[in-house]
Amino acid sequence: GGSGHGSSRLLGFAEVPISTADAVVVPEGYTVQVLIPWGTPLARNGPAWKKDGSNSAADQTLQVGMHHDGMHFFPTGRGSDANREGLLVVNHEYVDQKLLFPDGDAVLTPEKVGKALAAHGVSVIAIRQQGGKWTNVDSRYNRRVTGATPVTFSGPVTLRHAELASNNAALGTLNNCANGHTPWGTYLTCEENWNSYFGTTDTTWTPSAAQSRYGVSAAGGGYKWHTADARFDVAKNPKELNRFGWVVEIDPFAPKSTPVKRTALGRIKHEGATVVEHDERIVVYTGDDENGEYLYKFVGSQSWKKLRREGRSPLDHGTLYVATFADNGTGTWVPLVFGQGRLTAAAGFTDQADVLLRTRQAADAVGATKLDRPEWVTVHPRTGDVFVSLTNGTSGSTAVNPRKTNIYGHILRFREKKGNCTELSFTWDIAFYAGDPSYLPEGEFVPANQPLFGSPDGLWVDPDGRLWIETDVSNSSQNLATRKYDHIGNNQMLAADPGTGEIRRFLTGPRGSEITGITATPDGTSLFVNIQHPGEATAFFGEPTPANPRAVSNWPDFDPAGRPRAATVVIRRKDGRKIGS
Ligand code: FEO
Ligand code: CA
Ligand code: CA
Ligand code: CA
Repeated sequence: GGSGHGSSRLLGFAEVPISTADAVVVPEGYTVQVLIPWGTPLARNGPAWKKDGSNSAADQTLQVGMHHDGMHFFPTGRGSDANREGLLVVNHEYVDQKLLFPDGDAVLTPEKVGKALAAHGVSVIAIRQQGGKWTNVDSRYNRRVTGATPVTFSGPVTLRHAELASNNAALGTLNNCANGHTPWGTYLTCEENWNSYFGTTDTTWTPSAAQSRYGVSAAGGGYKWHTADARFDVAKNPKELNRFGWVVEIDPFAPKSTPVKRTALGRIKHEGATVVEHDERIVVYTGDDENGEYLYKFVGSQSWKKLRREGRSPLDHGTLYVATFADNGTGTWVPLVFGQGRLTAAAGFTDQADVLLRTRQAADAVGATKLDRPEWVTVHPRTGDVFVSLTNGTSGSTAVNPRKTNIYGHILRFREKKGNCTELSFTWDIAFYAGDPSYLPEGEFVPANQPLFGSPDGLWVDPDGRLWIETDVSNSSQNLATRKYDHIGNNQMLAADPGTGEIRRFLTGPRGSEITGITATPDGTSLFVNIQHPGEATAFFGEPTPANPRAVSNWPDFDPAGRPRAATVVIRRKDGRKIGS
C-alpha cells in the first residue's frame, strides 16, 4: 500500500491498512458507531427486528429498508443544534433475498414480493446526537417510501402517455442507488438497475428494441417477482417498465407528500443526481451506470427561485444534455431536444416525451461518448471542478477511457467553460487512476506510492475540498488473484487532495460489503457512511445459505443466530474535531 505520510494539509489522519477482517476499521483517534441497521423500527413502539428474517411485509413497511446506499443529512436543529439534530434520508438500493426471508429465495410468494418491495425505496428518519452518540428518535417526519408507495409523474412524460398508461396505479420507486438534494430542501433518489425486477415465463414474449436497450429480458435479474406478482410480468404489464428509470423528488419535511418522478431529467439507469446552481439556474449531473453508457446534465431554463414562487418545479423546466469527450481534452454538451439535430421524426422520434422515454437511444443518435460505467458526480465547492467516478468497464480505447480493459477504474475531472456549470463546453482530464501497479498493464498510470484501491464509486468533495472516494469492487472480484484484486482487500473509503494528487486510505469495510453514501453534519464533526450488502457472497469467502447466512460476514451484530445487516455508520473523532483534517 501507499506510505500514507504525504504532505497534504487537507489530510490529517494516519492511513489504515488493507483489510479482510469482518469489521469497519477507521484511523487511530476515530470512533465508529452503527446506526439504523436494516430492520430498525422507525417508531419506538414499531415492530421489533427479528434476527431470523421472519418479519412480515407489513413489519418491513414500518422498519428501515435493506441495503443502504446514497443519503443526505438535513439539519433540523437551529444554530449549533444543526450539528446535533436532523433528518437522515437514506436510499435502499436492492435486496438480498437469501437474507431477507427465513426460507431463502428458491420460491417467491405474493407476501415475499410484498416484503421485498417494502425493503426497497427510501427511509426518512429523525436522528439526534448527545454526548457524541447518535440515536434515531420518534418524529412526525419519520416515513418509508417503498416499491409500493403511490407516486406521481411530472414533466414531459406523464402517466397519460400511451407507453405508461394502464389500469394499474403508479406505485413505488426501485433500485434507489445514489442521490442528490436541491437548494429548496428536497431529496432526489435515483432509479438505477430497475430492469432486473421484471421478467416473464411467457415463452412467446420477446423484448422490443426500446426494452432491449435497457436490458429488459424474460429471465430478469434473478428476483423472480414476476412468478408471484403480475405487475412485474413484462408480457402481462409492459407499461409498468416505463414507470421506472427516473429521478424521484421527495420532500422530507412534508411527510404526507407524494414522491414525484421528474421526467425532464431523462430515463436511464440513473446513478445519482448532483445539483449545483449558477445565477439561480440549477444544473443536475447524472451518470448512467452501465458499461459504455453516457454522462448527462440537465440545465434549468430560468431562476429556480422564480419558478418556485410561481408554484412550478425547477426540475420540470430545462434541457437535458449528454456529454461528448474529444481526445484532445475538450468536450461539449449535446442537447436531447426533439426536432434538433438527429432527434427528428425522420429518425423515428415522435416528440420530446419519446426522446426522454428512450433517452439512451436519443443519446446514441447524437453520438454521445461511451464511458466506463459513470457512477457518482461531485462538484468542488470552490474551484467548480466536476469529478466523475468511472468505476470499471471495457468501453474501448479512447482518451477518456484509456485502458482497454479497465478493471480498476479512474476518476474523471472536467471544468465547465468559464467555471459556469450552465455552459455547454468544457475541458477535461483524468484526476486519479485506481489500480495495482504489480499487475501491468492494468496498473499503468498509478503512482507507485498510491494506496491500493479499485472500482471507485461514491464521491464527495467536502466543504474543505477533500475528495472522498468510496469503492465498490464486485463480490465476484473481491480479494481474488484471478481478478487481480487479491492485494486490495475489502471495499474501502479514501480521501484525496485534488490539488496535490495525494490519496490516503481512511476506512475499510466488513467482508462482502460495499462502502457507499456519504453526508456530514454542517460542522464536519460527524460523517455518515453506508455499509451496503455485508455478507454478500464472494468467491473468496463463500456462499451464504439459509442454514448458514453468516458464511461471509455477520456484521454488525455478530449474533450466531442472526444475519448480516446493511447499516449507516457514524464516524467521529475522540477529540471532537473535523473528520479528515
Ligand atoms: Fe448502484 Fe452504480 O451503483
Ligand atoms: Ca454506486
Ligand atoms: Ca458500483
Ligand atoms: Ca450497490
